[in-house]
Amino acid sequence: MTRFIQAQHARILNMAVTSWFVTAVIGQWIFGVYVLLFYGTATLKGHPSDWNKVLPNGYVTGDIMGNVVVGSHLLLAITIIFGGPLQLIPKVRNRMPVFHKWNGRCYILSAFVTSLSGFYMVWVRGSVGGIVQHVSISINAILIIVFAVLAMKYARARNIKKHRIWAIRLFLVMNGVWFFRVGLNFWLFMNQGIVGFNPKTFEGPFLNILSFSQYLLPLLLFELYTIAKKSPNKRFVQVVAVIVMVFIIVMAIGIFSASKSVWLPRITEVLFTNSITWTNM
Ligand code: HEM
Repeated sequence: MTRFIQAQHARILNMAVTSWFVTAVIGQWIFGVYVLLFYGTATLKGHPSDWNKVLPNGYVTGDIMGNVVVGSHLLLAITIIFGGPLQLIPKVRNRMPVFHKWNGRCYILSAFVTSLSGFYMVWVRGSVGGIVQHVSISINAILIIVFAVLAMKYARARNIKKHRIWAIRLFLVMNGVWFFRVGLNFWLFMNQGIVGFNPKTFEGPFLNILSFSQYLLPLLLFELYTIAKKSPNKRFVQVVAVIVMVFIIVMAIGIFSASKSVWLPRITEVLFTNSITWTNM
């Protein structure tokens, strides 16, 4: 009987989490197409200064080292956005173990390089936002490095159970910057305008809270899901499933809003015109 109840709980939770994953991947890949087309086109055309149409300190004439750091951050962002979800799909993992192994190695390497280049961009090059956001994204980077080391350690030790848990945690913190964009666009959509921060300085209480939530909230949700999977308490399992569903709705609204107002206009502009003219973030 207990086994039957646990199987039923697992089914409810799996349905909720699969819906969450599918929604997230659709949103991440729209973001990925934008990054690929915008930054890729600008770079391949030999106009890296076009990066500055989005990133204020993206390309600085004469600063070869800094430009290489930003370029590697953007290039690896593309591999992270497209390659990350593939690691978590059981069919891909089971049918293509060699791909899983090499894609995983690239993902881990990208995790290190992107975090370190991110540190450089925040603390040396300078980026938008205030000190709270700079500290919070730096904590995000430290979590990425720690989780990447642990995911790799358990893969090497063939401890698949622990490897899986740390790989999922890594995936969640690697997507912190994406959750930030989705959360911001959800907020702008719900308020039909800018509330809780200054758009010129990109500072304010809402952005401070969001910059920590971008990785703490997904991590918390994953821990709840893990506890619920083992719990015999039906009410608790249902509550967790409802929380996941609410998260999906928030994410879907954020993805819709970001796609409509930022990502898709930029994608179509690159595809259908020769010049890139937009300037907002
Ligand atoms: C590991 C996953 C990460 C991915 C996939 C990623 C991706 C990106 C992308 C695509 C951009 C261009 C922004 C846009 O066009 O909207 C960007 C910018 C930036 N990223 Fe990352 N990033 C990651 C992690 C980090 C981390 C951990 C840090 C900090 C420690 C960081 C710091 C920055 C900074 C400072 C910018 C420039 C933003 C600005 O000031 O204008 N990134 N990142």
